[in-house]
Amino acid sequence: MELRIEHLTKQYGSFFAVNDINIVLTRGVYGLLGANGAGKTTLMRLLCDIQTPTCGTIRYDGQDIRTYGDHYRNVLGYLPQDFGYYPNFTALKFLLYMSAIKGLSKGFAMQRSLELLEEVGLLQVKDKKIKTFSGGMKQRLGIAQAMLNDPKVLVLDEPTAGLDPKERVRFRNLISSFSQNKIVLLSTHIVSDVEYIAGDILVMKQGKFIHEGRPDEIIRSIDGKVWECSVPNADVPSLERSYNIGNMRMEGASTVLRVINEEKPMENAVSVSPNLEDLYLYYFNEEENMK
Ligand SMILES: Nc1ncnc2c1ncn2[C@@H]1O[C@H](COP(=O)(O)OP(=O)(O)OP(=O)(O)O)[C@@H](O)[C@H]1O
Ligand SMILES: [Mg+2]
Repeated sequence: MELRIEHLTKQYGSFFAVNDINIVLTRGVYGLLGANGAGKTTLMRLLCDIQTPTCGTIRYDGQDIRTYGDHYRNVLGYLPQDFGYYPNFTALKFLLYMSAIKGLSKGFAMQRSLELLEEVGLLQVKDKKIKTFSGGMKQRLGIAQAMLNDPKVLVLDEPTAGLDPKERVRFRNLISSFSQNKIVLLSTHIVSDVEYIAGDILVMKQGKFIHEGRPDEIIRSIDGKVWECSVPNADVPSLERSYNIGNMRMEGASTVLRVINEEKPMENAVSVSPNLEDLYLYYFNEEENMK
């Protein structure tokens, strides 16, 4: 099972939303990490054959998805970023409706919908209208609809956005339990989401992957660039202007800063082990994003 992406490019006029991406995805969970506008949604829509690439190809087990058509849709599950729910549908009716769109037989659709409602913890509310659901419940229903056809390729676009921490953990665990024997691609800008469930992380910036690999591997790329130092509280505002600063915590008259910087930022700074959040701050600091 593989998705082979070659020279994949999507241009809007002269702007490259996805810029010559090459990668082979095999079984496992991939976390697509990037700031707003990095090109995550565009890449996912190309992978789901909803948008046409400007150039490049996507092959599923050797077959070009653009010509593989319905065969590809049968192995694909997609939870879009802006998923439109039908507020007056009940959870069960919604899944049955989505099953019909996916061409599943009626008997199978009922059985599969009930099974999935149970797995995502919505069986008790299966006859309640979606408009009464919380954000987390809607997202759980969203992943259930993506799983109806037991897809081999599961694409989830920012599935945890807007969820509270408890729902986020619950949702992450749900994705892990659904990810057996599949290619799962999950986009997010929430570092902890990918840290826990993704085997591989794809760091996307301006339409390209700037890093790909296991979390510990890509974190190593900023080894020696993360520092901790204690400074007087009064110095913090000017340091914030000059440095890329992560966490800070006040300890009486001084503040302990986590600084992401190529060189030692100040005399008393000590080098510390980087984590994924540091990597994110290193590649996506605010000034960069303003450009
Ligand atoms: N239809 C379009 N026409 C022109 N530009 C577009 C279009 N769709 C997307 N873009 C641009 O392409 C870039 C990538 O957008 P995309 O939605 O893929 O980013 P993203 O990584 O999903 O961002 P977010 O985290 O905000 O969801 C953005 O700069 C966006 O403005
Ligand atoms: Mg997006």
